[in-house]
Amino acid sequence: MFSDLLKTQRLVLRLPAKCDVESIADLMNNWNVVSRIALAPYPYELSDAEEFVERVSQRQRTADDAVYAITKDTSFLGVISVAPQRRGPNIGYWLGEPYWGQGLMTEAVGAVVHEFFMQPVNQSLISGFFRGNQASWSIQRKFGFEVTGESTIMCVARNAEIANVETELSRQRFEEVKS
Ligand SMILES: CC(C)(COP(=O)(O)OP(=O)(O)OC[C@H]1O[C@@H](n2cnc3c(N)ncnc32)[C@H](O)[C@@H]1OP(=O)(O)O)[C@@H](O)C(=O)NCCC(=O)NCCS
Repeated sequence: MFSDLLKTQRLVLRLPAKCDVESIADLMNNWNVVSRIALAPYPYELSDAEEFVERVSQRQRTADDAVYAITKDTSFLGVISVAPQRRGPNIGYWLGEPYWGQGLMTEAVGAVVHEFFMQPVNQSLISGFFRGNQASWSIQRKFGFEVTGESTIMCVARNAEIANVETELSRQRFEEVKS
């Protein structure tokens, strides 16, 4: 099972809580964030953040299901999660725009990927990114993710099907890249 708390050099990943609602709404009500992820509406209202926290705080943690608030010095920065999906356990993440470009999501993804493969039952981690999201691909590539295909995904904020690059990190690749 995923731990309740993950720590990196600069970050603490913890369970999302009611105290995060305002920060989530503030950081998610940003086209540059919601246009790059699938399931967020735009505009993003306080009630959307409340529903999100309500939903994820009731979710059972398992070996392939966990949601973390990304925090630094007690400030809320974004969200990272692993959730079972059609193609397998899927990692997704977003960071508030003021925090981009400091290597923070690389740290968060590193911690979650490591925790995922610490669990022997997990053999492969799925992800993807909307075509053109080079920042997201740069992060995934560092940990050994490989492109496996293309699809389209409904982006709620854009209300359109968006070209999506599908990726996957096998346990073998994870071990190779790590060593
Ligand atoms: C994508 C996102 C998570 C990146 O977070 P971040 O903390 O800024 O990322 P990092 O600083 O750890 O790393 C970003 C990498 O992308 C690179 N990068 C950033 N912008 C880039 C661009 N326009 N083109 C190419 N590479 C870019 C950076 O150089 C860095 O790679 P490097 O470490 O090899 O130099 C953040 O921009 C975000 O939340 N965006 C909106 C939501 C989103 O896209 N989520 C992912 C959906 S798949």
